[in-house]
Amino acid sequence: YDLEALIEPLLDWFSEHARVLPWREDATPYRVWVSEIMLQQTRVEAVKPYFERFVEILPDIQALAECGEEQLLKLWEGLGYYNRVRNMQVAARQIMEEYGGTMPSSYDALLKLKGIGHYTAGAVASIAYGKAVPAVDGNVLRVISRAAADERDIMKQSVRTNMEEQLQKIIPDGRAGAFNQALMELGATVCVPNGEAKCSECPWEQLCLAKREGKITELPKKSKA
Ligand code: ADE
Repeated sequence: YDLEALIEPLLDWFSEHARVLPWREDATPYRVWVSEIMLQQTRVEAVKPYFERFVEILPDIQALAECGEEQLLKLWEGLGYYNRVRNMQVAARQIMEEYGGTMPSSYDALLKLKGIGHYTAGAVASIAYGKAVPAVDGNVLRVISRAAADERDIMKQSVRTNMEEQLQKIIPDGRAGAFNQALMELGATVCVPNGEAKCSECPWEQLCLAKREGKITELPKKSKA
């Protein structure tokens, strides 16, 4: 499947339909990082007020590194998965020690920080630093599986790695952050799961093989739970 053909309609759609989100207005590395960690297990609407308060009280990596545990947990109360914020503080202290408080910009350096995996490293490097790296989350796996009518099991690490490789090759020059966010946004707002996909609103309606073959509800394939 020719993924290249998807790029222009996707970017055009995103420039019109991107949601206005607090971390998009001022996409600093720290703000992108905090937002991506919050968004890992929590929906956008629920994250917004937590994000605003968190970055107001802890406006930078140094403030996060130095925050007392009680206040830190209080800022996260209600979001759950508290290891997320504990790991962020460990990473903030790493960044203070190893990088003088400046978030590293390379994918590989980001990956070494506590709590930052492939997806988050890709998101920060591309959205905040404009680096040409993929950021493949569940939304991205779904939209690509459907567009290409890819029947492979997206729970397999090998499939995710292969998607990253395919996307890596086509990241548009100078627009990595918009490209990655557009893929996520399409998955979050249009190409949604559970039989609720809004194909008539999709910039890929005419290009999508799953749509053409009547396989939207079958894809993506997920074997193990
Ligand atoms: N979900 C997680 N990160 C996102 C982002 N940057 N844009 C849209 N949806 C997201």
